[in-house]
Amino acid sequence: MNKMPNDVIIACDFGSADACLEFLDKFKDEKRKPFLKIGMELYYAAGPEIVRELKRRGFRIFLDLKLHDIPNTVKKAMKVLSGLDVDMVNVHAAGTIEMMRAALEGLTREDGTRPMLIAVTQLTSTSEQSMREQLLIDATINDTIAKYARNAKEAGLDGVVCSPLEASLVKEACGKEFKAITPGIRFADAAKDDQVRITDPARAREIGSDFIVVGRPITAAPDPVAAYHRCLHDFLGEEI
Ligand code: C5P
Repeated sequence: MNKMPNDVIIACDFGSADACLEFLDKFKDEKRKPFLKIGMELYYAAGPEIVRELKRRGFRIFLDLKLHDIPNTVKKAMKVLSGLDVDMVNVHAAGTIEMMRAALEGLTREDGTRPMLIAVTQLTSTSEQSMREQLLIDATINDTIAKYARNAKEAGLDGVVCSPLEASLVKEACGKEFKAITPGIRFADAAKDDQVRITDPARAREIGSDFIVVGRPITAAPDPVAAYHRCLHDFLGEEI
């Protein structure tokens, strides 16, 4: 795996390839092509062809499909995704250390290279109450996140997806080289939408995020390119 520098990842939550490509046309004059996240909605609507097309256009891709199945199935699915030449993919840590190891094996190409592999710990939509009552997990959310992150590290993964407010917890549990990829980003002066455990790009950097994932604050902004530049400036300190 190549070491990738910290960056802003734009969540391309669109319902069709056309809508996504039309949005990305706005970024055609960018010197460095943005890093994009493709989630289930766009992938299930447009299939692997949208990934190939975006790679042809020079974008880096985090394919956010959150795999969770028996180890053999995950290994084979990861081999297919690795062939799409994506830059980052993920699994649910709840699938166990064995499943995460199988994912890593499936991803690793014959020449030893592979996309970055990260794990979802507990979804930010899961509360301590639903963990206890529905999943029979008695530990606190933070202890669960720290344990799942340590499991991911033990399996050889590169990092976890978590709330920016949990990035320091993950670094304490797994060391500062272990990556924290954090959605839940909002500008301090903007609406939260449906996100709860959020912070702004500058604070996310201070707490320890390595990559911030930003959707609506960029995609729904009146000027998406300006909003993206604001994220780069606040998170990376880059002057555009
Ligand atoms: O629009 P917004 O900035 O809220 O988008 C955040 C993106 O990150 C969405 O694609 C969402 O599905 C994803 N995500 C998240 N929280 C998680 C995992 C993924 O918001 N725990």
